[in-house]
Amino acid sequence: MVEARTSYETVIAEAEHSGEWALRAEALRRVARVHLIHGEVAAAREACAQSEEIAARNGDTLLAAEALNARGIIEMEGDVEAAREMFLRALELGGCSVELRARVEQNLGILANMQGQLEQAQIHYGCSLQAYQQANNEHGCALAYHNLGMLNADREEWDDAERHFEESRAIAERIGDLHLQGMCMLNRSEVHVARQRFEEAKHGAEAALALFDQLGAARDKSDAYRVIGVVFRETGRTALAESRLRSAIDLAAQTGSVLYQAEASRELALLYQGMGRNQEALTLLTEAHGLFGRLDARADLVDVGGKMARLEEAFLAVVRDWGRSIESADTYTFGHSERVANYAAAVAQELGLDAGEVTTVRLGAYLHDVGKIRIPHEVLNKPGRLSADEFDIIKMHPIWGLELLEGVEFPWDIKPIIRWHHEKLDGTGYPDRLRGEEIPLHAMIIGIVDVFDALTTTRSYRPALSLDVALAEMIGSRHWWRPEVYEAFCRAIPARYAAGAFGPTQLAVGPAAAA
Ligand SMILES: [Fe+2]
Ligand SMILES: [Fe+2]
Repeated sequence: MVEARTSYETVIAEAEHSGEWALRAEALRRVARVHLIHGEVAAAREACAQSEEIAARNGDTLLAAEALNARGIIEMEGDVEAAREMFLRALELGGCSVELRARVEQNLGILANMQGQLEQAQIHYGCSLQAYQQANNEHGCALAYHNLGMLNADREEWDDAERHFEESRAIAERIGDLHLQGMCMLNRSEVHVARQRFEEAKHGAEAALALFDQLGAARDKSDAYRVIGVVFRETGRTALAESRLRSAIDLAAQTGSVLYQAEASRELALLYQGMGRNQEALTLLTEAHGLFGRLDARADLVDVGGKMARLEEAFLAVVRDWGRSIESADTYTFGHSERVANYAAAVAQELGLDAGEVTTVRLGAYLHDVGKIRIPHEVLNKPGRLSADEFDIIKMHPIWGLELLEGVEFPWDIKPIIRWHHEKLDGTGYPDRLRGEEIPLHAMIIGIVDVFDALTTTRSYRPALSLDVALAEMIGSRHWWRPEVYEAFCRAIPARYAAGAFGPTQLAVGPAAAA
Protein backbone atom coordinates (compact mmCIF):
# COMPACT_ATOMS: atom_id res chain seq x y z
CA MET A 1 0.00 0.00 0.00
CA VAL A 2 2.80 2.40 0.89
CA GLU A 3 4.39 1.55 -2.44
CA ALA A 4 1.12 2.19 -4.24
CA ARG A 5 0.87 5.59 -2.64
CA THR A 6 4.45 6.52 -3.53
CA SER A 7 4.09 5.44 -7.13
CA TYR A 8 0.80 7.35 -7.52
CA GLU A 9 2.43 10.39 -6.02
CA THR A 10 5.30 10.11 -8.48
CA VAL A 11 2.84 9.85 -11.36
CA ILE A 12 0.95 12.89 -10.08
CA ALA A 13 4.14 14.97 -9.85
CA GLU A 14 5.39 13.89 -13.27
CA ALA A 15 2.02 14.42 -14.91
CA GLU A 16 1.84 17.90 -13.48
CA HIS A 17 5.23 18.63 -14.89
CA SER A 18 4.47 17.26 -18.36
CA GLY A 19 0.95 18.71 -18.46
CA GLU A 20 -0.80 15.32 -18.83
CA TRP A 21 -3.92 16.44 -16.98
CA ALA A 22 -5.98 13.28 -17.56
CA LEU A 23 -3.27 11.06 -16.12
CA ARG A 24 -2.93 13.40 -13.17
CA ALA A 25 -6.68 13.42 -12.50
CA GLU A 26 -6.81 9.62 -12.68
CA ALA A 27 -3.84 9.17 -10.33
CA LEU A 28 -5.28 11.67 -7.84
CA ARG A 29 -8.51 9.69 -7.69
CA ARG A 30 -6.61 6.48 -7.10
CA VAL A 31 -4.41 7.96 -4.41
CA ALA A 32 -7.60 9.14 -2.71
CA ARG A 33 -8.65 5.50 -2.36
CA VAL A 34 -5.32 4.67 -0.73
CA HIS A 35 -5.78 7.58 1.69
CA LEU A 36 -9.26 6.33 2.55
CA ILE A 37 -8.03 2.83 3.31
CA HIS A 38 -5.57 4.39 5.75
CA GLY A 39 -8.31 6.45 7.36
CA GLU A 40 -6.89 9.72 6.04
CA VAL A 41 -10.29 11.12 5.14
CA ALA A 42 -9.32 14.77 4.71
CA ALA A 43 -6.46 13.89 2.36
CA ALA A 44 -8.72 11.54 0.38
CA ARG A 45 -11.36 14.25 0.02
CA GLU A 46 -8.76 16.80 -1.08
CA ALA A 47 -7.31 14.47 -3.74
CA CYS A 48 -10.79 13.78 -5.15
CA ALA A 49 -11.65 17.46 -5.23
CA GLN A 50 -8.43 18.17 -7.14
CA SER A 51 -9.13 15.34 -9.54
CA GLU A 52 -12.62 16.64 -10.24
CA GLU A 53 -11.40 20.20 -10.66
CA ILE A 54 -8.72 19.20 -13.20
CA ALA A 55 -11.19 17.05 -15.17
CA ALA A 56 -13.86 19.77 -15.19
CA ARG A 57 -11.39 22.47 -16.20
CA ASN A 58 -10.40 20.39 -19.20
CA GLY A 59 -13.98 19.52 -20.11
CA ASP A 60 -13.73 15.77 -19.39
CA THR A 61 -17.12 15.15 -17.81
CA LEU A 62 -16.64 11.40 -17.45
CA LEU A 63 -13.42 11.79 -15.51
CA ALA A 64 -15.08 14.46 -13.35
CA ALA A 65 -17.98 12.07 -12.71
CA GLU A 66 -15.55 9.34 -11.65
CA ALA A 67 -14.03 11.77 -9.15
CA LEU A 68 -17.49 12.63 -7.82
CA ASN A 69 -18.34 8.95 -7.39
CA ALA A 70 -15.09 8.42 -5.49
CA ARG A 71 -15.88 11.45 -3.35
CA GLY A 72 -19.35 10.03 -2.60
CA ILE A 73 -17.78 6.79 -1.35
CA ILE A 74 -15.62 8.84 1.03
CA GLU A 75 -18.63 10.71 2.40
CA MET A 76 -20.76 7.58 2.89
CA GLU A 77 -19.19 6.93 6.25
CA GLY A 78 -20.08 10.25 7.82
CA ASP A 79 -22.29 12.52 5.80
CA VAL A 80 -24.92 10.49 3.99
CA GLU A 81 -26.60 13.48 2.38
CA ALA A 82 -23.32 14.78 0.99
CA ALA A 83 -22.61 11.30 -0.38
CA ARG A 84 -25.98 11.15 -2.10
CA GLU A 85 -25.45 14.55 -3.66
CA MET A 86 -22.04 13.49 -5.04
CA PHE A 87 -23.50 10.32 -6.54
CA LEU A 88 -26.38 12.20 -8.14
CA ARG A 89 -24.00 14.74 -9.66
CA ALA A 90 -21.83 11.88 -10.90
CA LEU A 91 -24.87 10.37 -12.62
CA GLU A 92 -25.77 13.69 -14.18
CA LEU A 93 -22.29 14.19 -15.56
CA GLY A 94 -21.27 10.66 -16.45
CA GLY A 95 -24.49 8.67 -16.72
CA CYS A 96 -23.91 8.17 -20.43
CA SER A 97 -21.23 5.64 -19.54
CA VAL A 98 -23.00 2.39 -18.63
CA GLU A 99 -20.04 1.16 -16.56
CA LEU A 100 -20.01 4.28 -14.44
CA ARG A 101 -23.79 4.34 -14.17
CA ALA A 102 -23.80 0.75 -12.97
CA ARG A 103 -21.33 1.51 -10.18
CA VAL A 104 -22.97 4.78 -9.11
CA GLU A 105 -26.43 3.19 -8.99
CA GLN A 106 -24.98 0.39 -6.90
CA ASN A 107 -23.54 2.94 -4.47
CA LEU A 108 -26.87 4.74 -4.27
CA GLY A 109 -28.51 1.41 -3.51
CA ILE A 110 -26.06 0.69 -0.71
CA LEU A 111 -26.67 4.16 0.69
CA ALA A 112 -30.44 3.67 0.71
CA ASN A 113 -30.01 0.21 2.23
CA MET A 114 -27.87 1.62 5.04
CA GLN A 115 -30.65 4.05 5.88
CA GLY A 116 -33.29 1.37 5.87
CA GLN A 117 -34.93 2.74 2.68
CA LEU A 118 -35.35 -0.68 1.17
CA GLU A 119 -37.67 0.28 -1.66
CA GLN A 120 -35.29 2.98 -2.88
CA ALA A 121 -32.40 0.55 -2.59
CA GLN A 122 -34.26 -1.97 -4.71
CA ILE A 123 -34.81 0.58 -7.48
CA HIS A 124 -31.13 1.56 -7.52
CA TYR A 125 -29.92 -2.04 -7.54
CA GLY A 126 -32.31 -2.73 -10.42
CA CYS A 127 -30.86 0.19 -12.41
CA SER A 128 -27.39 -1.00 -11.58
CA LEU A 129 -28.19 -4.47 -12.87
CA GLN A 130 -29.58 -3.08 -16.11
CA ALA A 131 -26.46 -1.00 -16.70
CA TYR A 132 -24.16 -3.94 -15.95
CA GLN A 133 -26.15 -6.02 -18.43
CA GLN A 134 -25.77 -3.34 -21.10
CA ALA A 135 -22.06 -3.22 -20.39
CA ASN A 136 -21.82 -7.02 -20.61
CA ASN A 137 -20.17 -7.00 -17.21
CA GLU A 138 -20.98 -10.43 -15.80
CA HIS A 139 -19.28 -9.95 -12.48
CA GLY A 140 -21.17 -6.71 -11.98
CA CYS A 141 -24.43 -8.49 -12.80
CA ALA A 142 -23.66 -11.20 -10.26
CA LEU A 143 -23.05 -8.56 -7.56
CA ALA A 144 -26.26 -6.76 -8.43
CA TYR A 145 -28.27 -10.00 -8.26
CA HIS A 146 -26.70 -10.76 -4.90
CA ASN A 147 -27.57 -7.31 -3.53
CA LEU A 148 -31.11 -7.65 -4.81
CA GLY A 149 -31.40 -11.03 -3.12
CA MET A 150 -30.25 -9.56 0.20
CA LEU A 151 -32.88 -6.85 -0.10
CA ASN A 152 -35.60 -9.34 -0.97
CA ALA A 153 -34.63 -11.38 2.08
CA ASP A 154 -34.81 -8.29 4.32
CA ARG A 155 -38.28 -7.63 2.95
CA GLU A 156 -39.28 -11.27 3.33
CA GLU A 157 -39.87 -11.66 -0.41
CA TRP A 158 -38.63 -15.21 -0.28
CA ASP A 159 -39.27 -16.37 -3.86
CA ASP A 160 -37.51 -13.34 -5.34
CA ALA A 161 -34.68 -13.70 -2.85
CA GLU A 162 -34.09 -17.31 -3.85
CA ARG A 163 -34.27 -16.51 -7.54
CA HIS A 164 -31.76 -13.65 -7.26
CA PHE A 165 -29.31 -15.66 -5.16
CA GLU A 166 -29.52 -18.48 -7.69
CA GLU A 167 -28.91 -16.11 -10.65
CA SER A 168 -25.93 -14.65 -8.87
CA ARG A 169 -24.57 -18.07 -7.88
CA ALA A 170 -24.84 -19.41 -11.42
CA ILE A 171 -22.86 -16.48 -12.84
CA ALA A 172 -20.33 -16.71 -10.01
CA GLU A 173 -19.82 -20.40 -10.82
CA ARG A 174 -19.40 -19.66 -14.52
CA ILE A 175 -16.80 -16.95 -14.00
CA GLY A 176 -15.08 -18.86 -11.20
CA ASP A 177 -15.82 -16.50 -8.31
CA LEU A 178 -15.87 -19.08 -5.51
CA HIS A 179 -16.33 -16.56 -2.77
CA LEU A 180 -19.46 -15.04 -4.26
CA GLN A 181 -20.73 -18.54 -4.96
CA GLY A 182 -20.37 -19.38 -1.26
CA MET A 183 -22.06 -16.15 -0.20
CA CYS A 184 -25.03 -16.88 -2.45
CA MET A 185 -25.39 -20.41 -1.11
CA LEU A 186 -25.19 -19.23 2.47
CA ASN A 187 -27.65 -16.40 2.00
CA ARG A 188 -30.03 -18.74 0.27
CA SER A 189 -29.72 -21.08 3.25
CA GLU A 190 -30.91 -18.27 5.49
CA VAL A 191 -33.99 -17.97 3.29
CA HIS A 192 -34.54 -21.72 3.71
CA VAL A 193 -34.32 -21.25 7.48
CA ALA A 194 -36.92 -18.51 7.33
CA ARG A 195 -39.15 -20.84 5.32
CA GLN A 196 -38.50 -23.68 7.78
CA ARG A 197 -36.80 -25.84 5.16
CA PHE A 198 -34.14 -26.99 7.53
CA GLU A 199 -32.67 -29.85 5.53
CA GLU A 200 -32.01 -27.62 2.50
CA ALA A 201 -30.71 -24.89 4.77
CA LYS A 202 -28.20 -27.22 6.39
CA HIS A 203 -27.12 -28.63 3.07
CA GLY A 204 -26.50 -25.17 1.57
CA ALA A 205 -24.69 -23.83 4.63
CA GLU A 206 -22.43 -26.89 4.74
CA ALA A 207 -21.57 -26.50 1.05
CA ALA A 208 -20.79 -22.82 1.63
CA LEU A 209 -18.67 -23.72 4.65
CA ALA A 210 -16.66 -26.15 2.51
CA LEU A 211 -16.05 -23.44 -0.11
CA PHE A 212 -15.01 -20.86 2.50
CA ASP A 213 -12.73 -23.42 4.07
CA GLN A 214 -11.09 -24.08 0.71
CA LEU A 215 -10.57 -20.32 0.29
CA GLY A 216 -9.27 -19.85 3.84
CA ALA A 217 -12.04 -17.31 4.42
CA ALA A 218 -12.29 -17.64 8.21
CA ARG A 219 -14.64 -14.69 8.61
CA ASP A 220 -17.20 -16.18 6.25
CA LYS A 221 -16.78 -19.59 7.83
CA SER A 222 -17.99 -17.98 11.03
CA ASP A 223 -21.19 -16.90 9.29
CA ALA A 224 -21.72 -20.40 7.90
CA TYR A 225 -21.29 -21.83 11.41
CA ARG A 226 -23.96 -19.42 12.57
CA VAL A 227 -26.49 -20.63 10.01
CA ILE A 228 -25.71 -24.28 10.78
CA GLY A 229 -26.11 -23.51 14.49
CA VAL A 230 -29.48 -21.90 13.86
CA VAL A 231 -30.63 -24.97 11.93
CA PHE A 232 -29.66 -27.20 14.86
CA ARG A 233 -31.43 -24.86 17.27
CA GLU A 234 -34.60 -24.79 15.24
CA THR A 235 -34.64 -28.57 14.93
CA GLY A 236 -34.18 -29.13 18.67
CA ARG A 237 -30.56 -30.28 18.66
CA THR A 238 -29.50 -27.86 21.38
CA ALA A 239 -26.05 -29.24 22.25
CA LEU A 240 -24.94 -29.12 18.61
CA ALA A 241 -26.53 -25.71 18.20
CA GLU A 242 -24.63 -24.33 21.18
CA SER A 243 -21.35 -25.72 19.94
CA ARG A 244 -21.72 -24.37 16.39
CA LEU A 245 -22.88 -20.95 17.55
CA ARG A 246 -19.99 -20.73 20.02
CA SER A 247 -17.59 -21.53 17.16
CA ALA A 248 -19.25 -18.84 15.07
CA ILE A 249 -18.74 -16.26 17.82
CA ASP A 250 -15.13 -17.28 18.43
CA LEU A 251 -14.21 -17.23 14.73
CA ALA A 252 -15.88 -13.88 14.22
CA ALA A 253 -14.05 -12.42 17.22
CA GLN A 254 -10.72 -13.81 16.00
CA THR A 255 -11.19 -12.27 12.57
CA GLY A 256 -12.48 -8.97 13.91
CA SER A 257 -15.90 -9.25 12.30
CA VAL A 258 -18.09 -7.19 14.57
CA LEU A 259 -21.19 -7.87 12.48
CA TYR A 260 -20.86 -11.66 12.45
CA GLN A 261 -19.98 -11.75 16.15
CA ALA A 262 -23.05 -9.71 17.00
CA GLU A 263 -25.36 -11.80 14.80
CA ALA A 264 -24.08 -15.08 16.22
CA SER A 265 -24.37 -13.77 19.80
CA ARG A 266 -27.97 -12.88 19.17
CA GLU A 267 -28.72 -16.36 17.81
CA LEU A 268 -27.05 -18.06 20.79
CA ALA A 269 -29.06 -15.80 23.11
CA LEU A 270 -32.25 -17.05 21.47
CA LEU A 271 -31.10 -20.64 22.06
CA TYR A 272 -30.47 -19.90 25.74
CA GLN A 273 -33.81 -18.18 26.02
CA GLY A 274 -35.51 -21.33 24.75
CA MET A 275 -33.57 -23.36 27.34
CA GLY A 276 -34.62 -21.03 30.17
CA ARG A 277 -31.01 -19.84 30.60
CA ASN A 278 -32.19 -16.25 30.85
CA GLN A 279 -29.17 -14.66 32.49
CA GLU A 280 -26.86 -16.03 29.82
CA ALA A 281 -29.27 -14.95 27.12
CA LEU A 282 -29.31 -11.42 28.45
CA THR A 283 -25.54 -11.29 28.81
CA LEU A 284 -25.16 -12.30 25.16
CA LEU A 285 -27.75 -9.83 24.00
CA THR A 286 -25.95 -7.09 25.89
CA GLU A 287 -22.74 -8.08 24.15
CA ALA A 288 -24.49 -8.05 20.80
CA HIS A 289 -25.92 -4.63 21.57
CA GLY A 290 -22.45 -3.25 22.25
CA LEU A 291 -21.16 -4.84 19.06
CA PHE A 292 -23.94 -3.49 16.86
CA GLY A 293 -23.17 -0.07 18.31
CA ARG A 294 -19.65 -0.41 16.92
CA LEU A 295 -20.72 -1.50 13.44
CA ASP A 296 -19.40 0.36 10.50
CA ALA A 297 -22.49 0.70 8.35
CA ARG A 298 -20.51 1.49 5.22
CA ALA A 299 -18.10 -1.40 5.42
CA ASP A 300 -20.74 -3.89 6.47
CA LEU A 301 -23.42 -2.61 4.10
CA VAL A 302 -26.12 -2.99 6.68
CA ASP A 303 -28.96 -1.03 8.09
CA VAL A 304 -27.62 -0.68 11.64
CA GLY A 305 -30.81 1.00 12.85
CA GLY A 306 -32.92 -1.93 11.65
CA LYS A 307 -30.57 -4.47 13.23
CA MET A 308 -30.60 -2.58 16.51
CA ALA A 309 -34.41 -2.49 16.49
CA ARG A 310 -34.58 -6.26 15.98
CA LEU A 311 -32.08 -6.80 18.77
CA GLU A 312 -34.15 -4.67 21.12
CA GLU A 313 -37.14 -6.82 20.25
CA ALA A 314 -35.09 -9.87 21.25
CA PHE A 315 -34.27 -8.21 24.57
CA LEU A 316 -37.88 -7.45 25.21
CA ALA A 317 -38.84 -11.03 24.34
CA VAL A 318 -36.32 -12.59 26.75
CA VAL A 319 -37.18 -10.20 29.54
CA ARG A 320 -40.94 -10.60 29.05
CA ASP A 321 -40.61 -14.38 29.00
CA TRP A 322 -38.55 -14.35 32.13
CA GLY A 323 -41.01 -12.03 33.88
CA ARG A 324 -43.88 -14.33 32.91
CA SER A 325 -42.05 -17.47 33.98
CA ILE A 326 -42.08 -16.11 37.51
CA GLU A 327 -45.77 -15.49 37.41
CA SER A 328 -46.60 -19.07 36.63
CA ALA A 329 -45.65 -19.93 40.22
CA ASP A 330 -47.90 -17.17 41.45
CA THR A 331 -51.08 -17.50 39.48
CA TYR A 332 -52.83 -14.81 41.47
CA THR A 333 -50.75 -12.10 39.92
CA PHE A 334 -50.57 -13.66 36.49
CA GLY A 335 -50.12 -10.98 33.85
CA HIS A 336 -48.91 -8.51 36.47
CA SER A 337 -45.56 -7.68 34.84
CA GLU A 338 -47.13 -7.22 31.41
CA ARG A 339 -49.77 -4.84 32.78
CA VAL A 340 -47.21 -2.96 34.86
CA ALA A 341 -45.05 -2.63 31.74
CA ASN A 342 -47.91 -1.16 29.71
CA TYR A 343 -49.00 1.26 32.43
CA ALA A 344 -45.40 2.28 33.16
CA ALA A 345 -44.63 2.98 29.50
CA ALA A 346 -47.74 5.19 29.30
CA VAL A 347 -46.71 7.16 32.39
CA ALA A 348 -43.13 7.49 31.13
CA GLN A 349 -44.40 8.88 27.84
CA GLU A 350 -46.71 11.27 29.67
CA LEU A 351 -43.68 12.52 31.60
CA GLY A 352 -41.99 13.27 28.28
CA LEU A 353 -39.19 10.70 28.67
CA ASP A 354 -37.34 9.84 25.47
CA ALA A 355 -37.67 6.53 23.61
CA GLY A 356 -34.59 5.02 25.29
CA GLU A 357 -35.95 5.81 28.75
CA VAL A 358 -39.36 4.41 27.88
CA THR A 359 -37.61 1.19 26.86
CA THR A 360 -35.71 1.22 30.16
CA VAL A 361 -38.95 1.56 32.10
CA ARG A 362 -40.65 -1.17 30.08
CA LEU A 363 -37.80 -3.66 30.49
CA GLY A 364 -37.53 -2.81 34.19
CA ALA A 365 -41.24 -3.41 34.58
CA TYR A 366 -41.01 -6.91 33.14
CA LEU A 367 -38.28 -7.83 35.60
CA HIS A 368 -39.19 -5.72 38.63
CA ASP A 369 -40.40 -8.72 40.63
CA VAL A 370 -37.91 -11.28 39.27
CA GLY A 371 -36.53 -11.77 42.79
CA LYS A 372 -39.85 -13.30 43.83
CA ILE A 373 -38.66 -16.54 42.32
CA ARG A 374 -36.71 -17.08 45.57
CA ILE A 375 -39.74 -16.58 47.82
CA PRO A 376 -40.88 -19.95 49.23
CA HIS A 377 -43.92 -21.28 47.46
CA GLU A 378 -46.10 -21.40 50.58
CA VAL A 379 -45.37 -17.77 51.37
CA LEU A 380 -45.91 -16.55 47.85
CA ASN A 381 -49.18 -18.45 47.56
CA LYS A 382 -50.44 -18.06 51.12
CA PRO A 383 -54.17 -17.52 51.39
CA GLY A 384 -54.95 -14.63 53.71
CA ARG A 385 -52.73 -11.97 55.19
CA LEU A 386 -49.03 -12.50 55.81
CA SER A 387 -47.34 -12.51 59.20
CA ALA A 388 -44.64 -9.95 59.93
CA ASP A 389 -41.95 -12.59 59.39
CA GLU A 390 -43.44 -13.64 56.10
CA PHE A 391 -43.65 -10.03 55.01
CA ASP A 392 -39.94 -9.67 55.84
CA ILE A 393 -39.27 -12.46 53.35
CA ILE A 394 -41.39 -10.72 50.71
CA LYS A 395 -39.38 -7.56 51.31
CA MET A 396 -36.24 -9.34 50.18
CA HIS A 397 -37.43 -9.70 46.58
CA PRO A 398 -35.88 -6.43 45.30
CA ILE A 399 -32.50 -7.49 46.69
CA TRP A 400 -32.81 -11.03 45.35
CA GLY A 401 -33.78 -9.61 41.98
CA LEU A 402 -30.54 -7.72 41.83
CA GLU A 403 -28.60 -10.82 42.87
CA LEU A 404 -30.17 -12.78 40.03
CA LEU A 405 -29.00 -10.14 37.60
CA GLU A 406 -25.50 -10.02 39.00
CA GLY A 407 -23.03 -10.27 36.17
CA VAL A 408 -25.64 -9.20 33.60
CA GLU A 409 -24.84 -5.73 32.38
CA PHE A 410 -27.74 -4.18 30.52
CA PRO A 411 -27.58 -1.51 27.85
CA TRP A 412 -30.48 0.00 29.81
CA ASP A 413 -30.22 0.96 33.45
CA ILE A 414 -32.91 -1.28 34.92
CA LYS A 415 -31.26 -2.35 38.18
CA PRO A 416 -32.40 0.76 40.10
CA ILE A 417 -35.97 -0.12 39.09
CA ILE A 418 -35.66 -3.63 40.48
CA ARG A 419 -34.06 -2.52 43.72
CA TRP A 420 -36.18 0.54 44.49
CA HIS A 421 -39.66 0.00 43.09
CA HIS A 422 -41.05 -0.32 46.64
CA GLU A 423 -39.45 2.83 48.01
CA LYS A 424 -41.74 5.69 49.02
CA LEU A 425 -41.19 9.43 49.08
CA ASP A 426 -41.70 9.63 52.87
CA GLY A 427 -39.07 6.98 53.61
CA THR A 428 -41.53 4.24 54.63
CA GLY A 429 -40.74 1.93 51.71
CA TYR A 430 -38.28 -0.93 51.38
CA PRO A 431 -35.59 -2.31 51.13
CA ASP A 432 -33.43 0.81 51.65
CA ARG A 433 -35.96 3.31 53.08
CA LEU A 434 -34.91 5.89 50.52
CA ARG A 435 -36.54 9.32 50.69
CA GLY A 436 -37.52 12.05 48.29
CA GLU A 437 -35.12 12.68 45.44
CA GLU A 438 -33.04 9.64 46.41
CA ILE A 439 -35.62 7.50 44.66
CA PRO A 440 -34.89 7.28 40.92
CA LEU A 441 -37.70 8.48 38.66
CA HIS A 442 -37.89 5.19 36.74
CA ALA A 443 -38.31 3.21 39.97
CA MET A 444 -41.05 5.54 41.16
CA ILE A 445 -42.95 5.16 37.89
CA ILE A 446 -42.98 1.39 38.38
CA GLY A 447 -43.87 1.92 42.04
CA ILE A 448 -47.03 3.87 41.34
CA VAL A 449 -48.38 1.61 38.60
CA ASP A 450 -47.48 -1.45 40.69
CA VAL A 451 -49.82 -0.15 43.41
CA PHE A 452 -52.50 0.59 40.84
CA ASP A 453 -52.32 -2.96 39.46
CA ALA A 454 -52.45 -4.46 42.97
CA LEU A 455 -55.58 -2.45 43.73
CA THR A 456 -57.39 -3.23 40.49
CA THR A 457 -56.78 -7.00 40.60
CA THR A 458 -58.18 -9.57 42.96
CA ARG A 459 -56.25 -10.30 46.16
CA SER A 460 -56.72 -13.09 48.69
CA TYR A 461 -58.27 -10.72 51.18
CA ARG A 462 -60.49 -8.70 48.81
CA PRO A 463 -61.88 -8.69 45.29
CA ALA A 464 -60.49 -6.33 42.66
CA LEU A 465 -61.44 -2.75 43.41
CA SER A 466 -63.35 -0.69 40.91
CA LEU A 467 -61.44 2.07 39.16
CA ASP A 468 -63.03 4.81 41.28
CA VAL A 469 -62.35 3.08 44.58
CA ALA A 470 -58.78 2.31 43.53
CA LEU A 471 -58.18 5.94 42.57
CA ALA A 472 -59.66 7.12 45.86
CA GLU A 473 -57.21 4.84 47.71
CA MET A 474 -54.35 6.29 45.69
CA ILE A 475 -55.35 9.85 46.55
CA GLY A 476 -54.97 8.82 50.18
CA SER A 477 -51.45 7.57 49.44
CA ARG A 478 -50.32 10.32 47.11
CA HIS A 479 -47.58 11.41 49.53
CA TRP A 480 -45.71 8.24 48.45
CA TRP A 481 -44.93 9.70 45.03
CA ARG A 482 -43.50 12.91 43.67
CA PRO A 483 -46.32 15.22 42.53
CA GLU A 484 -45.25 15.18 38.88
CA VAL A 485 -45.28 11.37 38.86
CA TYR A 486 -48.69 11.20 40.50
CA GLU A 487 -50.09 13.80 38.11
CA ALA A 488 -48.64 12.08 35.04
CA PHE A 489 -50.22 8.84 36.28
CA CYS A 490 -53.60 10.58 36.64
CA ARG A 491 -53.39 11.96 33.11
CA ALA A 492 -52.08 8.77 31.49
CA ILE A 493 -53.91 5.88 33.09
CA PRO A 494 -57.46 6.18 34.47
CA ALA A 495 -59.29 7.39 31.35
CA ARG A 496 -57.54 4.89 29.11
CA TYR A 497 -58.04 2.12 31.65
CA ALA A 498 -61.76 2.85 31.75
CA ALA A 499 -61.85 2.75 27.94
CA GLY A 500 -60.22 -0.68 27.96
CA ALA A 501 -57.04 0.58 26.26
CA PHE A 502 -54.87 -1.72 28.37
CA GLY A 503 -56.75 -4.87 27.42
CA PRO A 504 -59.34 -6.77 29.39
CA THR A 505 -58.98 -6.45 33.14
CA GLN A 506 -57.70 -9.59 34.73
CA LEU A 507 -60.01 -11.86 36.64
CA ALA A 508 -57.82 -13.47 39.24
CA VAL A 509 -59.02 -15.59 42.09
CA GLY A 510 -57.39 -16.68 45.27
CA PRO A 511 -54.70 -15.22 47.45
CA ALA A 512 -51.92 -12.94 46.41
CA ALA A 513 -48.65 -11.91 47.92
CA ALA A 514 -47.99 -8.21 48.22
CA ALA A 515 -46.63 -7.27 44.84
FE1 LIG B 1 -42.32 -5.88 43.81
FE1 LIG C 1 -44.95 -5.85 41.34
